[in-house]
Amino acid sequence: HSLNTLRLPSRALACVTLEDTGQLPELSALAQQYPQVHVLGGGSNMVLAPKIGGLTVRVRLPGIRLISESDDAWLVEAGAGEVWHDFVRTCLDQGWPGLENLALIPGTVGAAPVQNIGAYGVEVGSRIDSVLAWHIPQGRMHCLDASECRFAYRDSLFKHAEPGTWLITAVRFRLPRQWRPVLDYPDLQKHPLLARATSTEQGDSAPAGPTARQIFDAVCDIRRAKLPDPRELGNAGSYFKNPVVSTTQWEALHAHHPALPGYLQTDGRWKLAAGWLIDQCGWKGKRLGPVGMHTRQALVLINYGGAQATDVLALEEAVRADVRERFGVELEREPVAWGQP
Ligand code: EPU
Repeated sequence: HSLNTLRLPSRALACVTLEDTGQLPELSALAQQYPQVHVLGGGSNMVLAPKIGGLTVRVRLPGIRLISESDDAWLVEAGAGEVWHDFVRTCLDQGWPGLENLALIPGTVGAAPVQNIGAYGVEVGSRIDSVLAWHIPQGRMHCLDASECRFAYRDSLFKHAEPGTWLITAVRFRLPRQWRPVLDYPDLQKHPLLARATSTEQGDSAPAGPTARQIFDAVCDIRRAKLPDPRELGNAGSYFKNPVVSTTQWEALHAHHPALPGYLQTDGRWKLAAGWLIDQCGWKGKRLGPVGMHTRQALVLINYGGAQATDVLALEEAVRADVRERFGVELEREPVAWGQP
């Protein structure tokens, strides 16, 4: 239960913990004895079956260090096992801003590039310089630069690779010295902390604009208000991706449902708010057995206690079917599923 935030009961048939990169060659040798290998970070983006076959590797590689400091950026490296939110806070404490919009996302540094975590207008891929990853079958280290990681919306090379190929050991972040606040997201603009800092009603001088620390605080505030704390209610964040549709489909949907939130993408397609679609189908706050969709954010699936992977997948299918029938839109699961439920 405790190693996955959805709190599903799951047993790894064989499990090792990696605390030092010196253990990697031994790990590659051990991996050859198993039909599959699973790499576990914070367990915050997974749907786990009761039994996970093969070998499971818990990554606990620590360390945060400044690699270099040029005129235009700080290059900071963090071990894959560092807790993501603590790392974001450490960067701010050190005076390296740039990750504040990604505050309070559960999970580890090593898991962040896999699904290219994103929130409030920033995706982690845009702040990554390179990823250090051990190729388990080859038994050697690679340094993949950001373009090789093929970051896309909640997606990367690592998410598509055969499980057990890559083990991310560390991530290098490039944080520009020319820091600019990212405030495009409506929830951020409306937040009192930031609205005040950008307001022009403070006298003659132009507003100083919010600091990275204020954005960090506002993001924490917004997330706490909307998203359940996994320590209190089992969940894996957004359970579905926001679906991206063609202009034609967007126009048809928008004509029938003018309130449907849609965001134009750089390729001309439209990203729809899955939470809105699910909400409209009546699933917000509704349960199916021990699981349900959250009362404040219909995109978040909750384990109210005692659920198994099969319960989660049954609710997933029910929600998906209703959204398909009502809007003709196909939802895609965001967390990764392991094992045979
Ligand atoms: N909405 C509803 N009803 C709901 C939920 C949302 O009508 O029950 C509407 C909202 O009013 C808003 C729109 O849908 O107009 C979008 O909702 P929100 O701002 O809460 O963001 P989201 O699109 O649901 C995404 C990410 C989150 C991220 C937030 C903020 C995905 C799959 N989810 O959610 O990421 O924190 O934006 O940037 O892209 C995660 O991936 O686990 C995650 C939490």
